[in-house]
Amino acid sequence: TEPLRLGIAGLGTVGMGVVKIIRRHAALLEARTGRPVVITAVSARDATKDRGVSLKDYAWETDPVALATRDDVDVFVELMGGHEGAAKRATEAALAAGKDVVTANKALLAIHGQALAEQAEANGRVIRFEAAVAGGIPVIKSLTEGLAGNEITRVMGVMNGTCNYILTRMETAGLPYATVFKEADDLGFLEADPTLDVGGIDAGHKLALLASIAFGTKPAFDNVKLEGIQRIAIEDIRHAADMGYRIKLLGVAQRSARGLEQRMTPCLVPANSPLGQLEGGTNMVVIEGDAIEQVVLRGPGAGEGPTASAVMGDVLDIARGLRIATFGQPAATLEETPAAQTGLP
Ligand code: NAP
Ligand code: HSE
Repeated sequence: TEPLRLGIAGLGTVGMGVVKIIRRHAALLEARTGRPVVITAVSARDATKDRGVSLKDYAWETDPVALATRDDVDVFVELMGGHEGAAKRATEAALAAGKDVVTANKALLAIHGQALAEQAEANGRVIRFEAAVAGGIPVIKSLTEGLAGNEITRVMGVMNGTCNYILTRMETAGLPYATVFKEADDLGFLEADPTLDVGGIDAGHKLALLASIAFGTKPAFDNVKLEGIQRIAIEDIRHAADMGYRIKLLGVAQRSARGLEQRMTPCLVPANSPLGQLEGGTNMVVIEGDAIEQVVLRGPGAGEGPTASAVMGDVLDIARGLRIATFGQPAATLEETPAAQTGLP
C-alpha cells in the first residue's frame, strides 16, 4: 500500500508531539488507516537545536515553502504559527502544488481561512485544522460529522487554556498574575506572543472558526466582540466567588434576530455549573442544536500531546481518504453582526 507522506514545518511543542506520536504508534496508525503514515521531510528555523528525538531519518528543508512543495510530500503539516509570513506562504504553496494541508494555526485560519479553503477547493485538496480549536477536544469533527444533522443554535465555551489556567490559579492558590503566567509558560500553553492569549485574541480566533463551521458563514474574526483578562484583579475574582460565581473568559456565538453574534469576554458563570467547575488549562465547548439540545465537550485545550492528537486525527482522516471540508459548507445564509453592534447580555 502507498504510504501517506508528511512534510512537517515547525518542530516546537506541537510539531515534536506529532513526530513522537508517529514514531510511537507507527503500527497502530497503519492498522487504523490501512497504509503507513510516514514523515519524509521536516523544517524549522534552527537545524542544530537538540529536540530530544533524532530527526536524521527525515530530509531537512530550511525553507518551509520548499518543504511544502516537495514531490515526496503528500500532506503539508503546518505547525509554525503566525498569520502572515512563512506559515501563509508555505500553506498557499502547498495547496498550489496539490498537497492537502493540516494545520494548528488558528490565527492564520481566522484571518485567511476562507481564501485558503477556496484555494484548497479549487485544487481539489482539503485544509484541516482540528487542533486549531480547543486543542485535544475533537470539536470540529463533532460539528461536521456527529452533529451534522442538527441546526446549531449556539456554541459557547472556554477555549484558551492559558486564560483559564491563570484565572483558576489566581483564585484557588491566591497567586499573583505574574507567577501564574510563568507557570502557564512552563506548561507550554502560551503563544509566542502571549498577548494573543491574555488579550482574548487567540480565543477570539478559535470562536470565529467554530462559529463559521457551526453556522455555515465565512470566518469573521473582525466581528468578534473581544475583551481579554488583563484587567481582572484578584479582588474581582474574590468578589465573584463570594456571590457564588467564577470569572471565565467565555466565548459565545449564537443566532439572534440580528444574525450571528460572536463575543469573547470575561463573564461571571455560576460556580456549580459545568463551565464554573472548569479548572486549569482545560477547555470546554458547549454545542446546542435543535435535535441534540446540548452537548458538552471537555478536555485539554493545549500542550504537546493533546494538540498533536488533534493534528493526527486530521492526518488519519486524509490517510483513510475522508475528504470532509470544513469551511465552504452550504448554508452560508446567516448575516453576521459586527462586533460593535453585539449587545449580548
Ligand atoms: P513553538 O513551540 O513556538 O514552535 C514553532 C516551531 O516553528 C519551531 O520549531 C520553530 O523553529 C518553527 N518556525 C517558526 N517560524 C519558522 C519559520 N519562519 N521557518 C521555519 N520554521 C519556523 O509553537 P507551538 O506551540 O508548537 O505552536 C505551533 C502552532 O500550533 C501555532 O500555530 C500555535 O498557535 C498552534 N497551537 C499550539 C498549541 C500549543 O498548545 N502549543 C495548541 C494549539 C495550537 P525553531 O524551533 O527552530 O525555533
Ligand atoms: N495558547 C493557547 C491556549 C494554546 O492557551 O489555549 C492552545 O491553542
